[in-house]
Amino acid sequence: MNKIIAANWKNNGSKNLIKKYFDYLLKNININNNNKIIFFPPDIYIDYFYNFIKEQNFYIGGQDLVCNSDNATLTGGTKSEMFVDNGCDYILVGHSEKRKYESGILDDKNISYKLKNINNLKAVFCIGEEILDRENNNTNNILSSQLNDLILNYNNHNKIIIAYEPVWAIGTGKIPSNTEISKTHEFIKNFIIEKLPSLKEKDIMVLYGGSVNSKNASAILKLDHVDGVLVGGASLDAIEFTKICNIEL
Ligand code: PGA
Repeated sequence: MNKIIAANWKNNGSKNLIKKYFDYLLKNININNNNKIIFFPPDIYIDYFYNFIKEQNFYIGGQDLVCNSDNATLTGGTKSEMFVDNGCDYILVGHSEKRKYESGILDDKNISYKLKNINNLKAVFCIGEEILDRENNNTNNILSSQLNDLILNYNNHNKIIIAYEPVWAIGTGKIPSNTEISKTHEFIKNFIIEKLPSLKEKDIMVLYGGSVNSKNASAILKLDHVDGVLVGGASLDAIEFTKICNIEL
């Protein structure tokens, strides 16, 4: 089955970097490889980015859907229709960096608002435990409560994409063992199927994220229950990310 390779650029990049990046990537990517490539550039560069990818079989997503309870007028907001208008198919929701940044402002309601208002976008919904949760054997409880936000608020269940990103693995070079990744993905899928019994495993995609690079990506992508990777730091380097996109599975 085809895998998803997603690039989370966070708040990095510039027009200059994007141009150089695609000068390299478009020459070196294996277009016959069937992996599905999704880029999440900073929202302000989506339109510029789209010019480089629109002729390609790549997808683009937004990072920050900013809305309130009823999607009402909001200074500084960005609605799902605006992302779609700029070529996006996807939106990141619940990334741990955003959860931390926004906690205390809107807490979990913020995530609920976003999930309720994704409309025609597909959410890549990020979940993951902190190191203390892991040390206290609390990982599955944390993941279950984060998944409940999705299950309660997501209207279109036929294409659920989860990104399992242990917070302690993001940007640290630390990574769970392959067995742990596979087991956790299995737990996530089983949890969703238990809550939404009309779904089958094939309806639920779970990506792994956290210190993925061109050296470890191949083994991770080949694991059972792993449908792709969400790559942060390594996706900013055109050579590194092209290698990951070109992995044969
Ligand atoms: P990383 O980030 O690959 O740099 O660890 C992943 C992410 O935050 O999505």
